[in-house]
Amino acid sequence: MNTSAESRTILVTGGAGFIGANFVLEWIEQVGTRVVNLDKLTYAGNLANLDSLRGDARHVFVQGDIGDPVRVAQLLGDYRPWAVVNFAAESHVDRSILGAGEFIETNVLGTFRLLEAVRHHWQALPETERGGFRFLHVSTDEVYGSLGPSEPAFTEQHNYRPNSPYSASKAGSDHLVRAWHHTWGLPVLTTNCSNNYGPYQFPEKLIPLMILSAMQGKPLPVYGDGQNVRDWLFVTDHCAAIRTVLDRGVPGEVYNIGGNCERANLEVVRAICRTLDELLPDSPYRPHERLITFVQDRPGHDRRYAIDSSRIKRELGWEPTVTFEEGLRQTIRWYLEHEQWVSGVQSGEYRKWIAANYAQRAA
Ligand code: NAD
Ligand code: TYD
Repeated sequence: MNTSAESRTILVTGGAGFIGANFVLEWIEQVGTRVVNLDKLTYAGNLANLDSLRGDARHVFVQGDIGDPVRVAQLLGDYRPWAVVNFAAESHVDRSILGAGEFIETNVLGTFRLLEAVRHHWQALPETERGGFRFLHVSTDEVYGSLGPSEPAFTEQHNYRPNSPYSASKAGSDHLVRAWHHTWGLPVLTTNCSNNYGPYQFPEKLIPLMILSAMQGKPLPVYGDGQNVRDWLFVTDHCAAIRTVLDRGVPGEVYNIGGNCERANLEVVRAICRTLDELLPDSPYRPHERLITFVQDRPGHDRRYAIDSSRIKRELGWEPTVTFEEGLRQTIRWYLEHEQWVSGVQSGEYRKWIAANYAQRAA
């Protein structure tokens, strides 16, 4: 590796999870500088996502917690990254309903401890390095709460009204990030993104859960009436937006990122079924729509999310490039072609989660 690759090192947290792994893989392919990847490897972290980087000196994997100040300070001192990109979080709403503790621990306290370690490091940097340093915090549209059917999409000015333990813990982390900028001038950037989908997503989330269940002839558990709306973004578009914000975003500012693609859950599940009918003409489970089963709703289920991403388009020139139809087809093909990855994640721990979350939701 040449020295310029090392001198533009970034520290990514949570880079063995879904979005983090996609970001690391793309960064190394497209930017090519070194990535130090700090991940605790919870149930959602999976080193198999990073298999293609084995033996590549530009990827340094470190198993550890963002809430461990000694470890974080050591990494910052040893590798001197110019940027920290914080993906590490507990990310699943249903898990936050069955147990919020880990969400508060990582999303609130972990972010606080990470911010403190980064602030101490940043304050000690020479003047020449301090100005170019960035801390980018990856957050969610869920902090804004739920929209009525005809309300305008969330802008960066929308009030925070988080409704689930997950979104409340992410809102808490966003406020901490904001305060570390306002109080100490830490050069932070915050991105609030809509629902992502694509390769390497853990199959507890809607799209991969429905793809794998349909392939395997299992029921497709649609919560409530299936009319809750999400704004879907293909994961590589999210990664491109984060690179754009790192490159050109103004410290202290917030950027909303969305797919301009609102879909009701039932519509998404039906689109998955139709695509599988086409890609698996010999499947005994065709038509896959037969597997759709309405189950008890999620408590406090947000009805609609939609992001207004006009700011990032206008000021930084980013917009989504992958249509939902293309992205969904690409995602379904990826799950069909990665049997080994799928059997690895559908292990004992995963089966326990499915039993815990769905047993209580009688059809
Ligand atoms: P994920 O659950 O797939 O991955 C999270 C990763 O963080 C895992 O690798 C896990 O091992 C790691 N991690 C958890 N706790 C940690 C800790 N204390 N220290 C170090 N690592 C830890 O999540 P994701 O879907 O990839 O989401 C990444 C980020 O993007 C999260 O902050 C999430 O809130 C945000 N986000 C996600 C979506 C989405 O649709 N998935 C949308 C908007 C924003
Ligand atoms: P999810 O992927 O958990 O993301 P989020 O809750 O963060 O938006 O869920 C997306 C939508 O799909 C949400 O409205 C809940 C719904 N859903 C189901 O209907 N059935 C399921 O089994 C799951 C996991 C989600």
